[in-house]
Amino acid sequence: SAAGSTGPRVVLVGPMGAGKTTVAGLLGERWGLPVRDTDADVAASAGQSISDLFVDHGEAHFRALERDAVALALAEHDGVLALGGGAVLDPATRELLAGHPVVFLRVGLSDAVKRVGLGTSRPLLVGGVRARVKALLDERAPVYEAVATLVVDTDDRTPDDVADEVARRV
Ligand code: S3P
Repeated sequence: SAAGSTGPRVVLVGPMGAGKTTVAGLLGERWGLPVRDTDADVAASAGQSISDLFVDHGEAHFRALERDAVALALAEHDGVLALGGGAVLDPATRELLAGHPVVFLRVGLSDAVKRVGLGTSRPLLVGGVRARVKALLDERAPVYEAVATLVVDTDDRTPDDVADEVARRV
């Protein structure tokens, strides 16, 4: 726009195992746009892996860093933006998303578990992947739906197929 930066072309939300990172990469290639991921931004700015951040400082601290990363990315990134799966749990982060094209990549339990793998290092899943994934999917589905301007199903689909639908409909 004449005012300058317009924000991301699309913001991908959804649980771990929805394919946010993979689909973001495909959309970036397709559109010739840069891809940014708030997990990577948080890890880079903290100088620690996400797992280490959870262990050393706790989830609340991580969410605060994540909120800052989302705000910065929305302000300065014009490409494809993938958020961490829990970013939208934070009310202030949800408010930041208003007015942006937000796509919820929806996934069911069995595909989510297949994609994150049983040997996951994701801190929220250690010690019982299937049960934890189920709880997270159940409690978060309404939040993703509330922030999304578009919902795309990912079960039994390739990332390419999902990226096609996002590109067509967003
Ligand atoms: C989280 C998802 C992760 C990462 C952190 C917490 C969550 O991102 O931000 O482990 O609360 O769902 P991905 O969705 O990219 O795995």
